[in-house]
Amino acid sequence: MSSLADKRILLGVGGGIAAYKSADLVRRLLERGADVRVVMTAGAREFVQPLTFQALSGNPVHTDLLDPAAEAAMGHIELAKWADLVLVAPASANIMARLAAGMADDLLSTLCLATEAPLALAPAMNQAMWRHPATTANAATLCERGAALLGPDAGSQACGDIGPGRMLEPQALAAEVERLFAPVQSLAGKCVAITAGPTREALDPVRFLSNHSSGKMGFALAAAAQRAGAEVTLIAGPVSLPTPPGVKRIDVVDAREMREAAERAADFCDLFIGAAAVADFRPAEVAVQKIKKEDGRDSDSLALVKNPDIVAGIAARTSRRPFTVGFAAETEKVEEHARGKLLRKKLDLIIANDVSAADGGFNSDRNAVTIIDSSGATQLPSALKTELADQLIGIISARAFPG
Ligand code: PMT
Repeated sequence: MSSLADKRILLGVGGGIAAYKSADLVRRLLERGADVRVVMTAGAREFVQPLTFQALSGNPVHTDLLDPAAEAAMGHIELAKWADLVLVAPASANIMARLAAGMADDLLSTLCLATEAPLALAPAMNQAMWRHPATTANAATLCERGAALLGPDAGSQACGDIGPGRMLEPQALAAEVERLFAPVQSLAGKCVAITAGPTREALDPVRFLSNHSSGKMGFALAAAAQRAGAEVTLIAGPVSLPTPPGVKRIDVVDAREMREAAERAADFCDLFIGAAAVADFRPAEVAVQKIKKEDGRDSDSLALVKNPDIVAGIAARTSRRPFTVGFAAETEKVEEHARGKLLRKKLDLIIANDVSAADGGFNSDRNAVTIIDSSGATQLPSALKTELADQLIGIISARAFPG
């Protein structure tokens, strides 16, 4: 999936011959799943008709700062807040100068000043204008303020000159924009093993002991770790979730199978995350045939034996020990009990979740967690597990692999 999926891009089209390329750029951004709205300067409208951009983007084109009809539909401040990114392409020498000076005398410059979204500029101008010290200084000022300069390219220009100042081709520009949204590769070159889901402990051929874990948290972590550049092995209990793209999956059923797979994966991994809800106990005996209820008995008892503690086993390694992270599923005194597990299991870090909360824990799309290690506790408020996973991977990788 492209990092542009569902991203809201406000495309500011400046006056310049390269404005025609921006029509194709809209298509390239849409192909990658972005939602695009277009703002055109008066200069841009000399080169391309707004109707072209309206037809391609599927949205009305914004042109005037003081147009009551446009303001009633989506005012300029609303538009500035809507954007995840403001991309000015082509960014002429004039636009760059006005943005560097902080002017707000037309719709595009006002939006650039009013938005809190990041700003990206695709310069397009004559090579001498690009090399002029005034433009160089303006570009430096904009970059110092956090703007991203995408290009320019060098080559033959519409005016016949040859040199730097061509706007990047739409395909290359869309790829650059995609890179702006790509998650930081904080786990590049690292190998990560993650357990997820429940285990099932057989009682007889048709019954088992288990829990309500859906695997959503562990699978989201696996996807996030893969996005962060890791080679990921996901050891999954019985769940009905698709394997995240690019992740190696090993399916297991019970705790002993999960431990075997986890130990094998840990031999080669730098980071181990135990997100699975491993059954603490299993039936002492597994009946070969279905257990019959004994006539005349109103109760029965079940002998249980303890399962191996998978994450504690990995944390106890004296060689080939990965940075080891556990989860703590708690229903009361969440932080206190989680700290106990951190110490008892000798983990590097533990992620505590209150599984009694209505909006989180087992089989929910959301979760709220507290990250605990020797340096203290950090709370992450309720969020979709998919989003939370990216935050967790960011924090874990910074603690596991500082610098
Ligand atoms: O799968 P979901 O529906 O998305 O739900 C997510 C979750 C609630 C299952 C997950 O966020 C979570 O909390 N996982 C850990 C659940 C659990 O078993 O917690 P625990 O407190 O009992 O175990 C502490 C840690 O020891 C965990 O990392 C667990 O994986 C590990 N453990 C426990 C027992 C055991 N025999 N071996 C283990 O490795």
